[in-house]
Amino acid sequence: MEIKKAVIPAAGLGTRFLPVTKSMPKEMLPIIDKPVIHYVVEEAIAAGIDDIIFVTGRSKRSIEDYFDESPELEMHLRNSHKDDLLKIVEDISSMVDIHYIRQKEPKGLGDAIMRSRKHVNGDPFAVLLGDDIIVNKTPCIRQLIEVSKKYQCSTIAVEQVPRKKVSSYGIIKGQPLEESLYILEDIVEKPSIDKAPSDIGAIGRYVFTPEIFDCINEAGIGVGGEIQLTDGIRMLNKMQKVYAYKFAGRRYDTGDKLGYVKAIIDFAIQNESFGSQVKDYLCKKVD
Ligand code: G1P
Repeated sequence: MEIKKAVIPAAGLGTRFLPVTKSMPKEMLPIIDKPVIHYVVEEAIAAGIDDIIFVTGRSKRSIEDYFDESPELEMHLRNSHKDDLLKIVEDISSMVDIHYIRQKEPKGLGDAIMRSRKHVNGDPFAVLLGDDIIVNKTPCIRQLIEVSKKYQCSTIAVEQVPRKKVSSYGIIKGQPLEESLYILEDIVEKPSIDKAPSDIGAIGRYVFTPEIFDCINEAGIGVGGEIQLTDGIRMLNKMQKVYAYKFAGRRYDTGDKLGYVKAIIDFAIQNESFGSQVKDYLCKKVD
């Protein structure tokens, strides 16, 4: 089971970050000097993915521009001998093969993934949601690929989520199989805390067998009047084994304002050129 393709849905309206997302995709919000989506693409590449399908929507052109060549800027940097910056800019446009598909209407995550069906073309594939940055030596999506290869099945990344956040996630019921690994028994999209089967939530990383597409189709419209990926996974679990894996790594939910600020602070502290100054500044601030 070789996994070389990744789908990155990036069609959401980013309402949690209004007004900035009125004219800027949430995926382009910067963590210091790189947009969130850059980290997600880096994770996919580090996991051996060589073909990325972005499912975008209206006003997401800047994502395409970001990963495209930028001849005027490159010429300017070349002429002014700013070779370091030139390399940074050139490297971005040659990172990986990227294809773009539009989701015409915001009909949900399941629908966004359905748009990639033709391109995925019957292969198993990875899905990375653009909101999460996950830091670990072995990329989170690589960890899922390993599980999928070993057990020849779909695998979803999960972590324990705070009780008051349960209703923001797809929540699983799982039977522990081995350290960090569950056989999926059920998954429910955004349940209320009293109806939730656990406090273990699906975060934005998945590996799927291609049968997921038929299952999303069959599941139809779900919570919030949207086509939910979770309902597709639930359906898939009825015909094939699906595993849930408690991944190793630090996750930043940059789709949430507090998560976004935490990511900026941590990345700033770790910055080679000014990290120690940021630390000093924060220490003085909290004194
Ligand atoms: C989506 C999924 C949900 C999952 C979450 C992870 O929800 O529908 O099952 O737990 O991503 O971030 P969203 O955050 O798009 O509302």
